[in-house]
Amino acid sequence: MHDRLASLYSQHLATLRERADKALALGGFDHLVIAAGTPLRKFLDDQDYPFVANPHFRHWLPLTDTPGSWLVYTPGQKPKLIYLQPRDYWHVVPAAPSGYWVEHFDIEIVREAIDAVALLPGAATHRAIIGPECPTVPGAEANNPQAVLDYLHWHRSYKTPYELELMREASRIGARAHHAAEQAFRAGESEFGIHMAYLAAARQIDAELPYASIVALNEHGAVLHYTHFDRNAPTQSRSFLIDAGASAAGYASDITRTYAAAGHGEFQALIDSVDVAQRGFAAKVRAGQSYPELHIHAHHVLAEVLREHGIIRMSVESAVSSGVTSAFFPHGLGHPIGLQVHDVAGFQASETGGTIARPQGHPYLRMTRVLEPGMVVTIEPGLYFIDMLLEELRAKPVATDIDWARIERFRPYGGIRIEDDVVCTDNTPENLTRDAFDLIG
Ligand code: GLY
Ligand code: MN
Ligand code: MN
Repeated sequence: MHDRLASLYSQHLATLRERADKALALGGFDHLVIAAGTPLRKFLDDQDYPFVANPHFRHWLPLTDTPGSWLVYTPGQKPKLIYLQPRDYWHVVPAAPSGYWVEHFDIEIVREAIDAVALLPGAATHRAIIGPECPTVPGAEANNPQAVLDYLHWHRSYKTPYELELMREASRIGARAHHAAEQAFRAGESEFGIHMAYLAAARQIDAELPYASIVALNEHGAVLHYTHFDRNAPTQSRSFLIDAGASAAGYASDITRTYAAAGHGEFQALIDSVDVAQRGFAAKVRAGQSYPELHIHAHHVLAEVLREHGIIRMSVESAVSSGVTSAFFPHGLGHPIGLQVHDVAGFQASETGGTIARPQGHPYLRMTRVLEPGMVVTIEPGLYFIDMLLEELRAKPVATDIDWARIERFRPYGGIRIEDDVVCTDNTPENLTRDAFDLIG
């Protein structure tokens, strides 16, 4: 893996340099300066929130834990890394730079965060400084020029072979941890116990994961962002929904699986139908496919699933148009993924900015673009039994075409979501998640 990454990295860097050249020209700047950032301090405290490095910094460098460092790029010159290695006996200080990326940079070590400012090139007005606005080092405040950001964000949608390699690794770590979590569920562990099994198998702590894991037993699966971690196991574990990812050198995976305990055949059959539907959507991650159209298509297929399982009686068309499917599938089909779990530019109209609106009635869709080779998106359809939405549905005229007794039977299972990370290629899609699970055997 390491040799392969080393050879892919030079090509990745060449691509980033080309993109930076164009972004700077568009914005009228001479230098690209990217802050890794510094940890946020808790209010009235001497403790920091976990540090998450600026994704632009992680795009250039596989460094996730070097607060106070800077990437500096001037077109035509070797990129520079200003590397903060403080004199500090309280904390672990970043180790001396090493790895496949080092030879590609001029590296300057600084001992104090403020010392980086004197090493920045050119006049301040000629620098595009990309970074969080606060906290900042006086003299190197981020200006985040929109034209530069628009160009860089747009092109972040097209992953390089190096990035795809890291995303495969993030998926493999995630799949391994999901497997351990499933075993913990089948052994009757609590949500907390399952979460611990997940972290141990991933060999990552919570703060290193790309997002807060959702580990939901039974009815808890109906809470879309359930992040509670009940310490006690329920008397009976009927169902298990886990949405959890992993990180590899700053890249994310985002994976959801839903399981039924043995003896819960009706719910298992519903999971199986959503699984078939999900594979069908993933197979449509192809160049030229409009993502919002795929989302609407998913509503139609899921309406058919609801009909097949006796939950609704109206036609597919009227289930979609009357909003019935939105009560059972109340989120988007998925989103771009990469350096961030919800990656940038999902709505962007072009490399110079602009927004592609969501289809009306679909306020939570996070991706409105047409798919192109190199993009990576999640495909995460779901069906849930959410009391609040079911109550609203009951008050509508369509309620007579819904089998409420059937819904009562499914409520104790919470819901189903199945989520894969899928690469759009020139040909058949690459399913990072399914490939990673296949390796487990
Ligand atoms: N886990 C966040 C998401 O699926 O979008
Ligand atoms: Mn997702
Ligand atoms: Mn997810």
